[in-house]
Amino acid sequence: MALTVLKGTIVSAPALGRLEVVKGGYLVAEDGVVRGVFSALPERYAGAAVEDFGDALVLQSLADLHLHAPQYPMMAVGMDLPLLDWLNTYAFPTEARYADLDYAREVYRRLARDLVENGTTRVCMFSSLHRQATRILMEELERAGVTGYVGKVNMDRNGAPDLQETTEESMAETLRWLEECRDFRLVKPMVTPRFTPSCTDELMDFLGKLAAERGLPVQSHLSENRAEIAWVAELHPDCGQYWETYAKYGLWNARTLMAHCVWSDERERRAMKDAGVTAVHCADSNQVLCSGVAPVRAMLDEGMKVALGTDVAGGSSLSMFDAAAAAIGASKSRRILDGGETGLLNAAEAWYLATSAGAAFFGAAPGFAPGGALHALVLDDSRLLQPHPLTPEERLERCLYVRQPGAVRAVWSAGRKVFSAELST
Ligand code: GUN
Ligand code: FE
Repeated sequence: MALTVLKGTIVSAPALGRLEVVKGGYLVAEDGVVRGVFSALPERYAGAAVEDFGDALVLQSLADLHLHAPQYPMMAVGMDLPLLDWLNTYAFPTEARYADLDYAREVYRRLARDLVENGTTRVCMFSSLHRQATRILMEELERAGVTGYVGKVNMDRNGAPDLQETTEESMAETLRWLEECRDFRLVKPMVTPRFTPSCTDELMDFLGKLAAERGLPVQSHLSENRAEIAWVAELHPDCGQYWETYAKYGLWNARTLMAHCVWSDERERRAMKDAGVTAVHCADSNQVLCSGVAPVRAMLDEGMKVALGTDVAGGSSLSMFDAAAAAIGASKSRRILDGGETGLLNAAEAWYLATSAGAAFFGAAPGFAPGGALHALVLDDSRLLQPHPLTPEERLERCLYVRQPGAVRAVWSAGRKVFSAELST
């Protein structure tokens, strides 16, 4: 049996708004499966090799539940347009390049490594419409040790001349891609209609049936931008609200992720809650693309499932620490816009959303629950000055805001050490 024993200031998020802290604690995994967090090493592990990180924070690694892999090279470029213009001007031409498989390999290898170095070990990710490049993306994620779901994007209308499939191509390529996915261990396929304007009714119907038949999860975009919502209403006059264009085709259930939901009103949010759909809040992207300020506090108060995403490259950072800080910022903007009436998201809540809430989509229990695969990172914040001796909770809060190059010292994903700063220098 392989034992992993990590010693440090162990902080986990077992529930929304609650942090569990064990100073000088031991996080133990057997064969990559968490056995517990202990204040003293249990007798049965006596003699085990301990990786002692001193006072550094031992944290859960992060889950990015929405990003666009092919857009990574254009991150923080072209941040001056609203969604629909931004897609046509920047995103679609960038994605069209992934017909070139050498280019795909180069970008995706780098992306996978950068995710791990930022402490992100679980993802739900959009590829482009290209089947082969999507497979390359999955290979590179798996090679780097990133786990999760990847979607070959479906888009058979309103794309660009070099970024659109026929309906038949989209269906056939999706089926072929699913065949090719069988051998992946850590990275699995996810049904991915880009968003309603990108997919004909025939394609949506096919994808809904495919997801149901094969028990596949689904990801898409919902109510991100007001022009988009108006367009969807024109395309589907029979649907009272945007979400119904997904529900109509069976793309609306407890294994569905919907990115953004900026403009989802109480009725749309109720439909998400009733179906168990997860809203993926991408606060940075919502600001970059001037989409709006999502009511993240209201979503949580109403009992909806909420996770966080970077939405690279609508979002301008690959770091989920930034995504968590942006979510807190969005809750503050929402409060200002609501006349000071709405509550804020605090650091413990944002941390829960960035870790445990995302992990929940993969069926993982929150925090470092015994029985779960080890997903962890070590964060060394010792180079920051302290105004007074900070508590671990205060240290974690500041780590959401202050980027510290090289502070992530080591990362474990699915039980395996996938990054070590010592080795990487
Ligand atoms: N809606 C449809 N496609 C996209 C995309 O690539 N990024 C974002 N942010 N929204 C979208
Ligand atoms: Fe997106």
